[in-house]
Amino acid sequence: MNHKITIAIDGFSSTGKSTVAKRLAKRLGYVYVDSGAMYRAVTLYAMQNELINSELVNKAQLIEQLEGIEIDFKFNEDLGFAEVYLNGQNVEKQIRTLEVSQFVSQIATISEVREQLVRQQQKFGKHKGVVMDGRDIGTVVFPKAELKLFMTASAEKRAHRRYLELIERGDNVDYNAVLKNVQTRDHIDTTRADSPLTMADDAIEIDNSDMGLDEQFEYVLQLAEDKIKQCN
Ligand code: DC
Repeated sequence: MNHKITIAIDGFSSTGKSTVAKRLAKRLGYVYVDSGAMYRAVTLYAMQNELINSELVNKAQLIEQLEGIEIDFKFNEDLGFAEVYLNGQNVEKQIRTLEVSQFVSQIATISEVREQLVRQQQKFGKHKGVVMDGRDIGTVVFPKAELKLFMTASAEKRAHRRYLELIERGDNVDYNAVLKNVQTRDHIDTTRADSPLTMADDAIEIDNSDMGLDEQFEYVLQLAEDKIKQCN
């Protein structure tokens, strides 16, 4: 027997959740879903449709237009992971800019947005065999996930990682602006009323401030393999 399990990876922004989740899904032959990309795609939609003006989100109009926002993932063979599409357009690059990062936490506080995205995320995981990362995966989306991980690292380390990523992509950003964004998002993500970022009681906490990528991956893989064995 080889029952597939559900793996939920939550944690603060820029803790490397998606890097480890992608790699884990590939190794296990599971589907990887980046739930943050979905909140980012809704944010991009709001920006493109002028629903964000002078830093204020027009919540009422966004909620009204929610049904017309279609988010899909399509696997890119060359990249080895699924890219996100907004109403049929590949927006994988556009959703990663600092501009989108600046508004995404606000968008993620809107309950109607969360309801719609959580429903879609639960559909993605209906047949198990999924690794999903985000903020509320172990607490709200898949409270019964067999394996829940919660990733943390200091804000400075996380900002440094995100800064290097953005510079590598050719974005001209300032480290202090990235740090401020990380801290602001931490605050909004942990204090919002609907589904705030918290660690599920049965999650395993991993502080990767001083862990190498491979070391972290091997540790997580071991946890997943042990859990899969237990469930079979
Ligand atoms: O993982 P990320 O940085 O791409 O996520 C972007 C934002 O989306 C983050 O600030 C919080 C929000 N988010 C959320 O509220 N719930 C999720 N499951 C995933 C992301």
